[in-house]
Amino acid sequence: PGAPVNVTVTGAAGQIGYALLFRIASGQLLGQDVPVRLRLLEITPALSAAAGTAMELDDCAFPLLAGVDITDDPNVAFDGTNVALLVGARPRTKGMERGDLLEANGGIFKPQGRAINDHAADDIKVLVVGNPANTNALIAQAAAPDVPAERFTAMTRLDHNRALTQLAKKTGSSVSEIRRLTIWGNHSATQYPDVFHAEIAGRNAAEVIDDEKWLADEFIPTVAKRGAAIIEARGASSAASAANAAVDHVHTWVNGTAEGDWTSMAIPSDGSYGVPEGLISSFPVTTAGGSYSIVQGLEINEFSRTRIDASVKELAEERDAVRGLGLI
Ligand code: NAI
Repeated sequence: PGAPVNVTVTGAAGQIGYALLFRIASGQLLGQDVPVRLRLLEITPALSAAAGTAMELDDCAFPLLAGVDITDDPNVAFDGTNVALLVGARPRTKGMERGDLLEANGGIFKPQGRAINDHAADDIKVLVVGNPANTNALIAQAAAPDVPAERFTAMTRLDHNRALTQLAKKTGSSVSEIRRLTIWGNHSATQYPDVFHAEIAGRNAAEVIDDEKWLADEFIPTVAKRGAAIIEARGASSAASAANAAVDHVHTWVNGTAEGDWTSMAIPSDGSYGVPEGLISSFPVTTAGGSYSIVQGLEINEFSRTRIDASVKELAEERDAVRGLGLI
């Protein structure tokens, strides 16, 4: 095995962190032949909890785990980092306005973006999980002018995976038979899971389903509101499934999409499909050799167009709000 890959996880003592770190250390993020060194970034009061998780990582005796560093200093956490998973964020609390939420998250993602800019490795790849993920990624990216913008991505893979299973259940197929599903837009209730280009065992998914009412009234809201349904049922937000999606996102980015398939990633728009350039919006993407490209030439029908536009409008409003706050 070569030199360890440095993987930084922020919010490491949180519930996603607890589900994520063991998957990374076991080799599921980058591959079974890639040693990793973990860097855990937490706020000062949570350092002790992070140290406890590091003790448990020790106790797993993972052959690929080359070491664990714990810090509350972003400049240390991102020093030489190859993969950064930005999980820690400020959640919306009761009575909090959107502006307050964006401002609080700006206070987290701006300095982290700056630290990535100044200290990360040249091949740095960033995945933002902490919500509002797309706009937090935009804030971090804007604070890192020396890093190519396309290295900043946000997570819609959980939405993608949720949509796969809903579709499989509806059609009595297995998730492995479904390809070319797309999540468009924002990781929020406005996101649009698109089945019009998807295939189930080689047949067009929309034709297999043949029920636009189910798509509009059941499928889309079930996927978009799944996070709230998990909170309602579990009494806590999605953690293991979010960690799983983060592992999937990075693994696909590094190792490539399967021939004939694609995945969903929120990435800086190049203007494709009418999404204003620079917005971090979810697209259908293929990956190879550690880079990704937007799938081009898909025909967007009226049903999809209105939904993509609505989600992109929300992203533009969030961008305008953080611009107004001087965060980008
Ligand atoms: P959590 O509250 O259990 O953990 C968050 C951790 O972040 C805490 O330990 C906190 O101390 C830490 N933190 C706060 N500010 C920090 C900073 N400046 N630097 C480093 N660490 C910091 O939350 P959980 O459940 O782990 O979720 C984390 C985030 O992921 C939330 O914003 C949640 O909304 C989001 N999420 C995103 C999903 C997606 O699909 N994109 C899915 C599920 C959750």
